[in-house]
Amino acid sequence: METLPRPRPPVVPPAFAPIPELDMVAYERIAREVLLLLGIDLSRYRPAQVWRRVNGFAAARGMPDADELMVRIRNDGALRQTFLDMLTINVSEFFRNPEIWQALAEQHLRPMLRSQNTVRIWSAGCSLGFEPFTIAMLAREIAPFAEVKILATDVDETSLSKARKGTFTEAQMAGVSPARRRRFFRLTDGKWQVQPEIQAPITFRRQDLVTDPCEGPFDIVVCRNVVIYFTEQAKADLYGRFRDCLRPGGILFLGATEAIPSARAFGLVPSGLSFYQRP
Ligand SMILES: C[S@@+](CC[C@H](N)C(=O)[O-])C[C@H]1O[C@@H](n2cnc3c(N)ncnc32)[C@H](O)[C@@H]1O
Repeated sequence: METLPRPRPPVVPPAFAPIPELDMVAYERIAREVLLLLGIDLSRYRPAQVWRRVNGFAAARGMPDADELMVRIRNDGALRQTFLDMLTINVSEFFRNPEIWQALAEQHLRPMLRSQNTVRIWSAGCSLGFEPFTIAMLAREIAPFAEVKILATDVDETSLSKARKGTFTEAQMAGVSPARRRRFFRLTDGKWQVQPEIQAPITFRRQDLVTDPCEGPFDIVVCRNVVIYFTEQAKADLYGRFRDCLRPGGILFLGATEAIPSARAFGLVPSGLSFYQRP
């Protein structure tokens, strides 16, 4: 007779220390360490949110405060990487908000692929590569022989090196339909490997959106779920730079919840949910 699996004991969360109030002197000390150890300039991120995340990270590991965390990450490469992943939040997926990707494909990408010899796209904050590979799949489906060049950048070199490999687990493939899996991936040793056809158009490169200059001109700039923790000033600077690196008529594609309240002040015209056009 088949025996039923025994119910697992409930997972008891560790008792976290409460997050202390934002202390700007301590925050600036941490920001200096983070710049030194990870090369990330926190001055353009919202202090309250970073403070909460850093202290939550320390408390979850039983450390008394964020200063102790800085001492530990100085000497522990694995912890440093986990901290960096937490800080930059590299959560992503293929075809995130599929209906908006469909809108991008039909309203913007298709007309561009029909009317231009080359379409240039920038995925800014590309994480593990889900976003640029999504773009490459859509472009191949619309126009298999069109020339598409995709620049995919991120501040996190570890995410980029994973993205360059183009290998994904079954769980990471949740947004990819069976037809797309057959066409654009190969299943090898339980992992899904992207086919050269969607790897070839993409160049992965480390770039910090806060400090590094933009390249261009691009037909489409995709920057989704990246600037949510930036200060208002940092966002404003970035929107202006995105506009400057779009060609006239080009499209800025933001995350589902990231409307630009006064887009025209940045020289951008709203063009449907999540899209802004450089006139
Ligand atoms: C939540 S993920 C979003 C990934 C993808 N764009 C999406 O929407 O699925 C945020 C990404 O932004 C990157 N990021 C955060 N700050 C950045 C910065 N200053 N410059 C470049 N990339 C940054 C992180 O490393 C992370 O990979």
